[in-house]
Order: sequence, then C-alpha cells, then structure tokens
Amino acid sequence: MTGCVLLLGGHSDIGGDLTAKLCAGRPVVLAARREWTLDDVAARMRAAGATEVHTLPFEAGELTSHRDVVTRAAALAGPVTTAIVAFGILGEQARAEHDEAHAAEIASIDYTAQVNVLTVLADEMTTGEIVAFSSIAGWRARRANYVYGSTKAGLDAFCQGLADRLHGSGLRLITARPGFVIGSMTEGMNPAPLSVTPDVVAEAVAEEIRSGQGSTTLWIPRALRLLAWVMRLVPRPIWRRMPR
Ligand SMILES: NC(=O)c1ccc[n+]([C@@H]2O[C@H](COP(=O)([O-])OP(=O)(O)OC[C@H]3O[C@@H](n4cnc5c(N)ncnc54)[C@H](OP(=O)(O)O)[C@@H]3O)[C@@H](O)[C@H]2O)c1
Repeated sequence: MTGCVLLLGGHSDIGGDLTAKLCAGRPVVLAARREWTLDDVAARMRAAGATEVHTLPFEAGELTSHRDVVTRAAALAGPVTTAIVAFGILGEQARAEHDEAHAAEIASIDYTAQVNVLTVLADEMTTGEIVAFSSIAGWRARRANYVYGSTKAGLDAFCQGLADRLHGSGLRLITARPGFVIGSMTEGMNPAPLSVTPDVVAEAVAEEIRSGQGSTTLWIPRALRLLAWVMRLVPRPIWRRMPR
C-alpha cells in the first residue's frame, strides 16, 4: 500500500488502531480538534512505521473547511489513498429527547458532516479506499438510542449509494457496521452482546483493505449479521423495551 493515510478524527480509538495497522512505510495526516494534543497518536504512528506524520486542525461541524483539510493533507503528504472517517459522537439520548439543539448536534456531526466529508473525499481522491463507520444502531431504530441510530441509518443509506457510484472506479468505500465497541465512546456503559474492542474493528477493516476488492459493507463481528436479521423480526412491543 502506498500514498497517504488521512485520519479524520485523530483521537478516535477505532481510527487510531486502524491507522496504526495501515501506516507502515506511508505518510500519515492526523486531522482533529485540539490537534496540538496529538503527540501520543503521532508517536504511535511513527512506531508503527509511518514515514512522516502531520497534524491538521479539523472541526467536523465546519462543513466549508472539509475540502481545505483534504487538499492540505495531500499538499503535506502526497495524494490521499486511504481516508478514514472516524469522527463522531454518541451524544446523550435522554438530553436529546428534550434539547433540540443537542439532537441537531448529533444529527449534524454524525450525519451531515459525514455526508459532507465523504462527498469531498470521493471528489478529491482517485484511487484507494475511504472507510466510513455506520453502526448496528442504524439497522433498526431503537427507542433507547434513536437519535444517534437515525444518523447511522441515514449515513448507511448514503454509503450504499456512494459505494455503487464508485463501482468500477479506482476508489472504493468500505462501510463498517460494528456493534457495541468497548472504548471511549461507550465508557461507563454495559457492553451489549457480541461486543468487541476497537482493535477488532480495526483488524477487520484492515484485513478487507489488504485482501478485498471493490466497495463492501462489513458487519463486525461477522456474527452480528445474523443477530441483525433476527432483530428485524422482533415484534415492536418487545423491541421498544430493548436497551441501547
Ligand atoms: N464505539 C462504538 O461502540 C461504535 C460502534 C459502532 C460505530 N461506531 C462509530 O465508529 C466511529 C469511531 O468511533 P470510536 O469508537 O473510535 O469513537 P471515539 O474514540 O469516541 O472517537 C470519536 C472521535 O470523534 C471526534 N469528534 C467528535 N466530534 C467532533 C467534531 N465536531 N469535530 C472533529 N472531531 C470530532 C472526537 O474528537 P475529540 O477527541 O476532540 O472529542 C473523537 O476523537 C464513529 O463514527 C462511531 O459512531 C462506534
């Protein structure tokens, strides 16, 4: 693999683990809020074999800045051939049910900003792969986390269409659909069935990048696919009592 790895959401657990698996012999650009606090992540990438590591400020909510971040990354480190869109917020469901600004914030970061940056990446990149993170939460809306879940449902639909648009081009989209990932985003929460760690998600995506061809959607872990189909069959009176 050659070309630059761009991580959008430089502090992300999953994004960091994935970038570390892909960066040997390649330049890396870490884009994040508080980019001056990325020293540990940058050191980790160098230890993993990155030839050079650059940092850029990135605020996902500033939609008009996205194209500039992507073009600046290419100017710093050469053409981006792997873009990892790993920023996101879980938000607080209980708060979002009454505070419309918080509901809109979740929608903005987890849907609008993702759509915006994926559009930029698909426009600027000519070869390689873009990695987007959907979630089991978007598979069937759940009373306990429908705000976040709805953004993932929308993002997932966008990704399915974008993947088809990229079919036959030199660029592919890998849409990861993890279940519960034990990490910063879910800190303090009880792990759900089939929970995994960020490293497991990263390895599944890295393996697909190394060996796969064309755009694809990955359930992580794979067994989640079966659970997901069962989830669709659960009657609504039972489903609405499901925890997040
Ligand atoms: N963790 C899970 O259970 C799980 C399951 C399925 C899918 N996913 C998805 O996988 C992706 C990566 O998740 P993760 O587990 O790696 O989460 P994470 O460790 O919490 O990382 C998310 C990153 O997004 C960044 N971010 C949030 N809002 C931002 C903004 N406005 N501008 C720029 N950056 C922003 C955060 O930056 P700061 O450090 O600045 O806050 C944080 O570093 C997300 O899309 C998530 O929804 C996660």
